[in-house]
Amino acid sequence: MFVRDCWYVAAWDHELAPGRPIGRTLIGEPVVIYRAGTGGLVALADRCCHRLAPLSLGRVEGDELRCMYHGLKFDRSGRCTEIPGQDMIPATACVKAYPAVEKHSWIWVWMGDPAKADERLIPPAVGLEDPAWTLRSGHMDYEANYLLINDNLTDFTHLSYVHANSFGATEAFARSRPNVERLERGVRIWRWMSGGLREDAATRVHRRADGDMWQTYDFLAPGVLLMLTSTYPEGTAERFGQGPPDPGVVRPLAENFTSQAVTPITGKTSRYFFSWGPRSGEGSDAVADAMLQLAHMAFGEDKAIIEAQQRSIDTAPGQKEVLTSADVGPMQMRAVLQRLMREEASAAEAAA
Ligand code: FES
Ligand SMILES: [Fe+2]
Repeated sequence: MFVRDCWYVAAWDHELAPGRPIGRTLIGEPVVIYRAGTGGLVALADRCCHRLAPLSLGRVEGDELRCMYHGLKFDRSGRCTEIPGQDMIPATACVKAYPAVEKHSWIWVWMGDPAKADERLIPPAVGLEDPAWTLRSGHMDYEANYLLINDNLTDFTHLSYVHANSFGATEAFARSRPNVERLERGVRIWRWMSGGLREDAATRVHRRADGDMWQTYDFLAPGVLLMLTSTYPEGTAERFGQGPPDPGVVRPLAENFTSQAVTPITGKTSRYFFSWGPRSGEGSDAVADAMLQLAHMAFGEDKAIIEAQQRSIDTAPGQKEVLTSADVGPMQMRAVLQRLMREEASAAEAAA
């Protein structure tokens, strides 16, 4: 159901205050995360091994975490180091520890084999403090399986219908198709939007200039979207033969960047993290605020249709879907996740 050997976004880094553990459920597993006194993050199973109380209600003591039910204390590896009133600590008194990393303003947790946790697999998101961009951020919870959100983010034809009142894409946009390329751990989707394909309402907010809009994004396992949108002078798409522009030859008039992450909480609930904003420069704060407002409206529209879709799916178990040419991105992405799950299964089999 889930890829385990990958980094999941558990929280924004600003959600984690020193000395204050937080509890988050990732792919169905409760995890407690806190900042160790001597630095670094600790992520443990959020379930005390004594009587199973949540450790996220516990107290950080230096690098360790004390369960605030009967006082067992755990170190950053999850080993119990103290049982009040008992000298002997059984070897079974421990909780699972997960690799955790703070990067690009997100807290990433590796849910699979800790020996395979490789920081180079963290997708290159753009953190909120990056001086090149003026970003605003948020998150949203979904009553839906994460794959439905991944599908939505790898097929933008819905912009013309779901976002008619926010991003305001034309119906011609839905009739066009982007380029989809397979990557090792995801897909790359890119397109030019010019002439009749140009979006309407949204352009006034985030494009800030007339011209040809170039959009390219990577959608990487397990569900991280990194997208650059650039507006170039009219005719640039033509000039580059509808292929990627060379910013060394033609400078974009305006640009914006968004990082987004879909994290499964359970099989039926998900959390969606996002940041978006223009390239830093004069007036970018006001533009970033307007973009965030637009994003909240648009992402609310996605949430409404996707949650309704989930409820509809639940009433028709096993019903086959009829896919269209718009589903290339979603299908490629699902194939990547399935391949990763298969690889994990065969590695586990070989190890058994
Ligand atoms: S449940 Fe944690 S110490 Fe008892
Ligand atoms: Fe959408």
